[in-house]
Amino acid sequence: MEIRSVRGMNDLFGSELHQWAYVENQIKKIFESFGYSEIRTPALEKIEVFSGTVGNETDIVEKQMYQVVTESETYVLRPEGTASFMRAVLEHNLNATGQPGRFFYYLPMFRHERPQKGRLRQFHQFGAELINDSSPEADAELVTVLDQIYKSFGITEYRVRINSVGCNQCRGAYKETLKHFFTPKLQELCEQCQKRFERSAMRILDCKRESCREIAKTAPLITSCLCSECKSHHENFKSCLTKAQVSFEEDPYIVRGLDYYTRTAFEFTSELLGAQDALGGGGRYDGLSARFGAAAFPAVGFGLGMERLMIALQEKQKLPQFSYAPTYFFAPLGEKSFEILYSLSLQLKRQGVWCEISYDKTKALKWLLKQANRVNASYSLLLGDEELKSGIAILKNMKQGSQENIPVDSLETELLRRAHRAP
Ligand code: HAM
Repeated sequence: MEIRSVRGMNDLFGSELHQWAYVENQIKKIFESFGYSEIRTPALEKIEVFSGTVGNETDIVEKQMYQVVTESETYVLRPEGTASFMRAVLEHNLNATGQPGRFFYYLPMFRHERPQKGRLRQFHQFGAELINDSSPEADAELVTVLDQIYKSFGITEYRVRINSVGCNQCRGAYKETLKHFFTPKLQELCEQCQKRFERSAMRILDCKRESCREIAKTAPLITSCLCSECKSHHENFKSCLTKAQVSFEEDPYIVRGLDYYTRTAFEFTSELLGAQDALGGGGRYDGLSARFGAAAFPAVGFGLGMERLMIALQEKQKLPQFSYAPTYFFAPLGEKSFEILYSLSLQLKRQGVWCEISYDKTKALKWLLKQANRVNASYSLLLGDEELKSGIAILKNMKQGSQENIPVDSLETELLRRAHRAP
């Protein structure tokens, strides 16, 4: 076939989709028990939602957004959830009470990246956002929820890396210090980092190139530039994590790929994933609402990549195999039997019992029984002219191979009784 799906965007169906649904449900339950309620935002947003907020110099805004251009407007397909979330919070005054508010979302995101294992152009993210709480406990809560999600699936092979990227004040001073450090080494940096130098020097620390990493190793660290408030917030955040029994390590090179972070930044990485090793990440973004032109209020959150979690779960063989099969397969032989079993199948379906019936009335018994086996039905029900005459249908237990006669008049009651019998 010539027409195929867009590269980096996948179809999901069958047993894989059942496994996704199982994982999604478990994560939603964890969110509920931590008091997070769901929010859904549209896939298409005005470009301004991301351009001045996530940061014009970030990869996401600079080169990864899918644009939808109409005569009057340019829209983009949501590349990440936090800016959309903030747009919705401000639009609906969800922060008006000034009280902490907990939200989660589960939505597809779109980024025009080079597809590879664990890196898609349409991927799915669970996100959690906690607004109106500036405490280090709030930061620790988010890390704890993310940690709880992975642990609940039996995944332990990951590292929790934390850092503080400071506030507007101390970060300004740090950027200057960094620029000073990188100036004499500019020619040795990769082309991308040379571009980053002017406006987002901190992101050089995040470059994956070995040569840039070597240089970055000796760069001054943000830790040395944090103001006293940021320092104490970070210390308290760490002690909250210790109290919550979440193991973590400090990594001053975690700067995150989005511009809105202040103070706490964190990333969960796992060797189960390969090159794209970030399972999830997030941080505090107290200044984001101001980037929308609104009053500043505190917020902290994370994003978890569903595809990456599924890779980790597959690697660890933690995904259950689901088998969905009908309770009954009806095999009518002849027009009259078909009419009876067709209405009966509707009655049962309406009462929550899965039964299948072939609409092809020309098929012989052998074919029908083969079908019953193929769909893995627990029972098949045979009704032909002979059975109709005697008023008795034949119910075959497909697993045990046994069969019994059931009066046609009491089929509904008998089949319901068997379907609802405890296994
Ligand atoms: P992010 O680090 O860009 O953060 O994405 C979060 C997670 O989404 C990553 O750790 C990764 O698991 C997954 N992810 C990112 N890009 C891809 C991709 N192309 N294919 C598959 N998975 C991917 C954010 O998006 C922030 N909005 C998180 C946040 C929420 N910060 C505060 N609140």
